[in-house]
Amino acid sequence: TGLVVAMDGPSGSGKSSVSRGVARALGLRYLDTGAMYRAITWWMLQRGVDLADPAAIAARSGEPSIVSGTDPDGPAIHVDGVDVAGPIRAAEVTGAVSAVAAVPEVRVRLVELQREIIGAGDIVVEGRDIGTVVWPDAAVKVYLTASPEARARRRSAEVAGSTVEAQQEAMARRDTLDSTRKTDPLSMADGAVELDTTALNLEEVIAEVLRLVAE
Ligand code: ADP
Ligand code: CDP
Repeated sequence: TGLVVAMDGPSGSGKSSVSRGVARALGLRYLDTGAMYRAITWWMLQRGVDLADPAAIAARSGEPSIVSGTDPDGPAIHVDGVDVAGPIRAAEVTGAVSAVAAVPEVRVRLVELQREIIGAGDIVVEGRDIGTVVWPDAAVKVYLTASPEARARRRSAEVAGSTVEAQQEAMARRDTLDSTRKTDPLSMADGAVELDTTALNLEEVIAEVLRLVAE
């Protein structure tokens, strides 16, 4: 099978930008698994599912159709045929996604879809559990990190009207939920290379990953 690059790490560590840059440079496909968790969360919010009730989330988790594109230049995501690339970035979704992603039935469903897409390889896949659970055989596993302050600064530069402090608080809350949940918590995979991007720019990080791929 073709090359699989697994890119894991917390929010704002640079997973999306680095993964897309690496995929572009090497002519690989790109899969944003976080977008899939956001998409199912968007659907649950639309349907008024009580997100404080894991059993309610589990019961509905098989209903929506979720279709992900793999073009690094324009990652597409559709839920029941609706293009949700914009809506899944809303603050309401960001605030709810970690609770939905903690439900085992949701993870089983999305991991199955992810494995189908990864299939024959030639793809860069970003998420929280790619190197640990989704594709432990990935040829290259990268664990991106950056200081909480740097991550919050990056994210607040993208979101109009947000302060670094508010971003840092919201990210810390999501980091805690993502790394303490019972099913497939965020953690560094066996064989992963940790890359601290705090003092690096995007081009430097992409170059470092390309170097790891070439090894
Ligand atoms: P993640 O997918 O891990 O949440 P993103 O790739 O969305 O992270 O990065 C968040 C923001 O930080 C983007 O605007 C991106 O351009 C910027 N960024 C990513 N990596 C770096 C870096 N090494 N140095 C500076 N800015 C970065
Ligand atoms: O863009 P950002 O890094 O902030 O988040 P994301 O990658 O879009 O992921 C959103 C959320 O989905 C995460 O906070 C996790 O709760 C969940 N997620 C997950 O559980 N497993 C993955 N493989 C990817 C995302």
